[in-house]
Amino acid sequence: MATRHFLTLLDLSPDELAYLIQRAIKIKTDLKANGPVYTPLPNRTLAMIFEKSSTRTRVSFETGMAQFGGHALFLSPRDTQLGRGEPIEDTARVLSEMVDAVMIRTFSHEGLETYASASSVPVINALSDDYHPCQLLADVMTWTELRGSVKGRTAVWVGDGNNMCHSWINAARQFGFHLRVCCPRGYEPRADIMEAAGNCVTLHHDPKEAAKDADLITTDVWASMGQEAEQAKREADFAHFQVTEAMLDTAKPDALFLHCLPAHRGEEISHTLLDDPRAVVWQEAGNRLHAQKALIEFLLLGQIEG
Ligand code: CP
Ligand code: NVA
Repeated sequence: MATRHFLTLLDLSPDELAYLIQRAIKIKTDLKANGPVYTPLPNRTLAMIFEKSSTRTRVSFETGMAQFGGHALFLSPRDTQLGRGEPIEDTARVLSEMVDAVMIRTFSHEGLETYASASSVPVINALSDDYHPCQLLADVMTWTELRGSVKGRTAVWVGDGNNMCHSWINAARQFGFHLRVCCPRGYEPRADIMEAAGNCVTLHHDPKEAAKDADLITTDVWASMGQEAEQAKREADFAHFQVTEAMLDTAKPDALFLHCLPAHRGEEISHTLLDDPRAVVWQEAGNRLHAQKALIEFLLLGQIEG
């Protein structure tokens, strides 16, 4: 089987993504019913390169590999030769000789592509400055579990046109829903990513108008990892873009709220939003485990019948 990478949601076809969501739901159901008895990857190793902090991503990948009978290896640039200037292509070639797959959380998406081009084992994007596709697998899984097919529905992105926003745009394309992107002027997502999504996506600047009759609302921090110096300016620029219970009230009565977490209460969300029953962020976070297990299984073993 040719090596498949997962750097953005566009690396898999819509049919493959639809398969992954159903497979993740099945893996979760079986795990809850029987415990971690399904071990299709005995003694296989996932290398996890983290150049940025993480709680959910690290724990979900590491736990997923353990439940599959395999092993995950945490590598940080501080403790490896990556941090001392060894070319990433050389690291990719070396790890390809030893491990079965590599997961990378990094700054530059181009650097990630360079790594993948030199890797003969699957490479998974665990967040770059431009995309966070693993999070979207968990998000679409959660939405599907709770509301059925997402095709034809309307989601609203409120906030920064950042890596999560770009992956939501790609998700709208690949899963067939409509996305309203609502951001302050000057914080729009990349024009080429918007244009490629055609009429799956529309751009808005008024959160009240954007949230109206939506099926789902989602947001993210105003300053992403690497943008800490812009925090104060962003707090001012995003002041009118806080997601509140009142905003959710203008959406459909059965609307859901998602947030990839970590969340900053009092900034992008009201202090109490995560206590609202429409906020399903703990289920969403937990689904990182099941969605990524389905992804790893797919990249290493292909589609599982039945
Ligand atoms: N949502 C997410 O990726 O969380 P972590 O940064 O904790 O991995
Ligand atoms: N946009 C955020 C997502 C964190 C999971 C960041 O890149 O820091």
